[in-house]
This record gives sequence, C-alpha cells and structure tokens, in this order.
Amino acid sequence: MYRLEKARVEDAPRLQALVARYAAQDVMLPRTVESIVQTLPDWVVATAETSARATRQVIGGVCLTALAPELAEVRSLVVDSDWQGKGIGHRLVARVIEMARARGYQQLCALTLVPEFFLGMDFRPVEVADISPKVWVDCQHCPKYERCDEYALVMDLVPNPVLPNYRRADLPLPTKSPNWVPLDLVS
Ligand SMILES: CC(C)(COP(=O)(O)OP(=O)(O)OC[C@H]1O[C@@H](n2cnc3c(N)ncnc32)[C@H](O)[C@@H]1OP(=O)(O)O)[C@@H](O)C(=O)NCCC(=O)NCCS
Repeated sequence: MYRLEKARVEDAPRLQALVARYAAQDVMLPRTVESIVQTLPDWVVATAETSARATRQVIGGVCLTALAPELAEVRSLVVDSDWQGKGIGHRLVARVIEMARARGYQQLCALTLVPEFFLGMDFRPVEVADISPKVWVDCQHCPKYERCDEYALVMDLVPNPVLPNYRRADLPLPTKSPNWVPLDLVS
C-alpha cells in the first residue's frame, strides 16, 4: 500500500537519492537536496509504510516546475525500482496535473526519454523548440543543447492555450542528437 502526499522537508535527501540513481544512468537530470528543499511546495511524494514498525518511506516523487505564468513542467518524476509498474508514476503525474490546473497554468510540458509513459496520459509530442520558455529558461544551459536526445510533450489544460514566445534571436535553436529517432505513433 502506498499513498500520495505533500513532500516534507525531511524527504529531500531521499528524493535526491532516488533521482541520483537515474541521473547516473543519464535518464534524468540530478537534483540537489537544496534545490528540492527550495521547491518543496511543488513536490508530491508517494510513500509506503515498511516493516512492522510502520516506518514511512518515500518511494517516488515528482515536481511541478513553473516555467512561465502560462506554462509548467512535470520535472524529476521518479519511482523506486522496487515499486515500478504498479501505477504510481501515473498517479503522481495525475496529481501534478490537478495542481497545475489549480494554479492556473494553461499548459503542462515534459521533456523525457520515456515518451510512451506520457503519451498514455494524453500528452502529445511537439518539437522542443515549441516549448519556448523551457528552451530559453533551461535548455540553453544544458550540455546537450546541441545534441538533445529527449522527447518534448505537452498537455493543454485549457482550450487553445496562448503561450509566450521567449525565443532569443541571438542563439540557435537546440539541435537533436544523431541517435534521436522520431516517435512511431502509428504501430
Ligand atoms: C518512468 C517512471 C516514473 C514510471 O513509473 P511507474 O510507477 O513504473 O509507472 P506506472 O506503473 O504508472 O506506468 C508504467 C508504464 O509506464 C511506461 N514506462 C515506464 N518506463 C518506461 C520505459 N523505460 N520505457 C517505456 N515505457 C515505460 C510503460 O508504458 C509502463 O506500462 P506497463 O506497466 O504496461 O509496462 C519510472 O519507470 C521511473 O522512475 N523511471 C526512471 C526515471 C525516469 O525515467 N523518469 C522519467 C523522467 S521524465
């Protein structure tokens, strides 16, 4: 049994460790304990009670990150390997979708190496460059800017969202990794 709840400050080291495990495999970006503490109200965690002493254990988490007044990102989504495949990831994302609606965002985005997970939740694929605030707030600082291997997906939270264009004319658009292949949405 597990439940979803607001993150507590004491959860930060465990969340950092969960993310670090996958950051080491290059499937997500690392987080520091400090960056988690500083964004604590934006996190949802999945917790389970383990052992006879009923110790609360954080088994997953996700952070709703503001990119612009209109746009937020599903960031640092992670579930402990022992708990994967039980629907926890989907429930975490469903909870941040609720949070994003309540906070008034028009659109949610995700950059990911596991697009199948998000496609099953009504996100749709777009070009990274279409998520203008993400590119010009974050991506331009990424070492993979000229070889991006991630898939960009968005979910509209209102009909016909109107998003700002943060495009910087002095910088080139991000380019894709030679290993990147388009999503096959038909088969
Ligand atoms: C992605 C992740 C959060 C999913 O959590 P989860 O609790 O296992 O997800 P759910 O049980 O709700 O859904 C599982 C579904 O997600 C999809 N999925 C998850 N990981 C996948 C992967 N690596 N490749 C393809 N599909 C994947 C599958 O469709 C799977 O369906 P199945 O159960 O029929 O096989 C988890 O696998 C994880 O922490 N991965 C490592 C970190 C990561 O990649 N985070 C995403 C960063 S955006």
